[in-house]
Formats: sequence, structure tokens, C-alpha cells
Amino acid sequence: MNKNEEVKRICEEVIERIRPDEEDRRRVKAVTDRIITKINKRALEVGVDAHAISVGSTARNTWVHEEADIDIFIMFPADLSEDDLKEDGLALAKSISDRYEERYAAHPYIHAYFYDADKRVEHEADLVPCFAVKDASLLKSAVDRTPFHNEYVVKRISGFEDEVLLLKQFMKCLGIYGSEQRRKGFAGYLCELLILNYSSFVELLRNASRWQYGERMDIEGQGTYKGAGNDPLIVIDPVDPNRNVAAAVSEFSFCRLIDAARDFLAHPSTKFFLQQKEEAMTEAEFINLAKERGTEFVLVLFEAPDVVEDILFPQLRKAEASVTNLIERNGFRVYSSDVGVEGDKAFLLFELLVWTLPRIKKHIGPPVTSKYHSEQFKGKYATTKPKDLFIETGRYMVEVERNYTDVVSLLKNELKSCSLGKQVTKSIDGGYEVLRNDEIQISEGLGHFFRGYFSGI
Ligand code: UTP
Ligand code: MN
Ligand code: MN
Repeated sequence: MNKNEEVKRICEEVIERIRPDEEDRRRVKAVTDRIITKINKRALEVGVDAHAISVGSTARNTWVHEEADIDIFIMFPADLSEDDLKEDGLALAKSISDRYEERYAAHPYIHAYFYDADKRVEHEADLVPCFAVKDASLLKSAVDRTPFHNEYVVKRISGFEDEVLLLKQFMKCLGIYGSEQRRKGFAGYLCELLILNYSSFVELLRNASRWQYGERMDIEGQGTYKGAGNDPLIVIDPVDPNRNVAAAVSEFSFCRLIDAARDFLAHPSTKFFLQQKEEAMTEAEFINLAKERGTEFVLVLFEAPDVVEDILFPQLRKAEASVTNLIERNGFRVYSSDVGVEGDKAFLLFELLVWTLPRIKKHIGPPVTSKYHSEQFKGKYATTKPKDLFIETGRYMVEVERNYTDVVSLLKNELKSCSLGKQVTKSIDGGYEVLRNDEIQISEGLGHFFRGYFSGI
């Protein structure tokens, strides 16, 4: 069998497994219709001017088998205030839900659970209030474009659903599906646009394997988006030409897709569509690995602030960068770092190449030939023992004592001087631990984190 046939056969095999069957579709549609009817009826009863619509992958037949979440948007008049939208929208959503959680991202919504008519299967649904604006570019809240996205995709996706499913499953297995801050990958809508642009999963992969930074797609040819110049991928939003749908795609996710596209086309296999369940790393395994590598692991552990991940993760990344900077400014060397949340704890992890240093440190002064600065420098260090002041490569130098000779004491004393993000700062002000190598307790969650940390692409 040649490569093309092999790829085709694999895609056909995978699609049979991940495509929802007629029964699933019927079931999801029935629950969706029931929720919409309930919302519209209740809105009438309480005299609220609102109506519900079905959006997202369940409205477009592009959800992967057994992973359906029903997305319902509740549309309010565009001239309503934001406070009223929130109050009326959430109250309406809650009033028709059997069981729910209130969730906040950039925008408040209700995540609810509904049984289907025979009370056998429980479905999850996002009930999101939004403004019914006239045009997607006139949005008042972050989610007002969604109904336009839905309309755009619904009109065009028929016949391409299977291709979207293959792409979503491929990305899920690579760990790059979803635009959340934690992942910074490809959103469902972006997957749909990629398929509409290239017309098939395989054609997308062929193109992706040759992508360059700043790759630009503009299906309607009306894009006005310029960008900040560092988006790896630009996909013009067909309903809002000044927006990049791929703005959340990180350099890593972009490169991961390019690499996997080449790999799959060269060595087609169903394994690209299987989610690997890896065992958590044990404490003994971790300690051995650290010993073999000869590096030092330092974990900064604190209470996870009570905010949604989309707010927390950018702060953890900011903290990671500023603590790395603190460590390196003090002469130590960071090899690699990462952040995470496990249970009620959040953490920053640093793997170090250099984590202890001798007490002495050279402090570099001005060139000897610069008379004015030389006097200043010698004046400042006049109290230093004479032999600690010396000339090297034409400059004055003075030997001083290092403030910190190990990373742990540096972090125990100076962490709060870093810019850590609002909620992370607050949590760290309440206390934190700095643990090294075998002091790090490898819980199940942390074991999974380290398994990911140590695995390559
Ligand atoms: P989803 O994240 O559910 O994506 O958002 P999807 O396209 O349905 O894909 P899968 O198959 O579930 O993974 C559905 C739509 O609702 C919007 C998203 O932008 C997307 O267009 N949405 C949902 C929001 O904007 N905000 C929310 O809080 C929830
Ligand atoms: Mn969805
Ligand atoms: Mn959703």
C-alpha cells in the first residue's frame, strides 16, 4: 500500500471510532432543544426579552464522540447594560438548570448538567448570556461574536464534519487542542476554519508541514488585521476582519503541529489519534532522574489563588519569568522551568544548572583610564581591604560578598520582590514553601506533572 492509501485507510478507521452515531446525535439534539425551549418559555413567563440559540460543536456536528458539551447562548437586546445582562442572564440560566456551577472567565456563565428524557445520560451544557449585536465587530462583551461564528460555520461546514473531527482528535492527542491560557492551542472554531480553508484534514497537514512564522489565512479575503508582528499564525476571522482567530496559538502549539504533520505524513499510524494515559511518576523515579541529570529541582509551592485558570495561568507564567530573572541576576543558572496547579496548590518549578556559588563575587568597576569614574569607584570602596581592589583587563574590580550563595535561601528571602501578578502576590504574601529535590513530595498530581515535564514531544 502506498503512503496516500495508508493515510486514507487510517483516517477512515479513526473517523468510525470518533464520529458520534445517529443515536448520539439524536440524544444531544433532543436535550439541546429541551433546554432552549425551557429558557425561551421562562423568559416569556418572567417578562425578560431574551431567546436562546444552540452554538458550538454540537450545533455543527463537529464534536468528538463522548465529548459533547452543549453550548447555548442566551441573546439579550444590545442596549441592555452589562450589569443587567449578567443579572438577568445568570438568573434565567440558573432557573432552568437542575444542577449548575457559576463560572467566570472574561465573562460570566453557567455550567449546568441536564439529564435526557429517560434520565439515563447526563449532559453538560454551557449557558452563556450575550448581547445580540448587529455586527460581530460591534461586540459589547467578549462572547458576542460567537453567534456570528456559529452562523458562518453552520452554513459552510456540511460535508466537512469528519475532517474537523479528525483534526480535533489529532490536536487533542498532541495536547494542543483548546485556546485556554493553560494550553494556548487551537480552539474548536479555529479547527473548523482551518478545514474550510484547506478543505481536508490531510490537505491541512500537507500545508502545515511547510508553514513559516506569520502564516496567514484569509478565507474571505477581507482581512484588515495587522497584528503585533509576532503571531506565529494568523487566521482572519471571517465575521470580524480585524481579528486573528489564532491569536491564542502559542509558538509551541504552532511548532508542535508542524512537527506532527510531517511525522504523520511520513509514518502514518492510528497512534496519532490515541490519547496516551501515562502513569504518574513515583517519588523514587523522580529522585533517580534528578540524580542522573545532575541538576537541582527547586519548587515554590503556595495556595492556589481562587481565580479561574484563564486568569491564574498568565500570572504563573509572569511569576516564572520574573523569578527566573531574579535567579539569574544573582549568578545562578536556570536550565528549564514550568508552572502548574495541583489540587489546592499552585507551584513554580525551576531546574537549575547552577544552584550554589562561592561566597566571593567580582564586582566590575570603570576602566582605569576614566579618571572621574575611577575616583568615584575607589571612593565608594575605600573601606574595602586593599588587596580586594584590583585591576583586570584595564578595569578596576572589587571582590565583594555575594548576598546569597544558594538558590533556596535567595527564594526564601527575595521572592516577594518579584512581580508575580495580583492574585499570586496575594497568595504568596500569605506564605509559601521552597523545596529542593527529595524534599518535593511527589503526589499523584505532581507525578503526572513531572511525567509531562520529562517527556519530549
Ligand atoms: P467551546 O469551547 O465549547 O468550543 O465553545 P466548541 O467549538 O463547541 O468545541 P468543542 O467540540 O466543545 O471542544 C463554543 C463556543 O462558545 C464560545 C466559544 O468561543 C465557541 O465559539 N464560548 C463558550 C465563549 O465564547 N465563552 C464561553 O464561556 C463559552
Ligand atoms: Mn462546545
Ligand atoms: Mn463549551
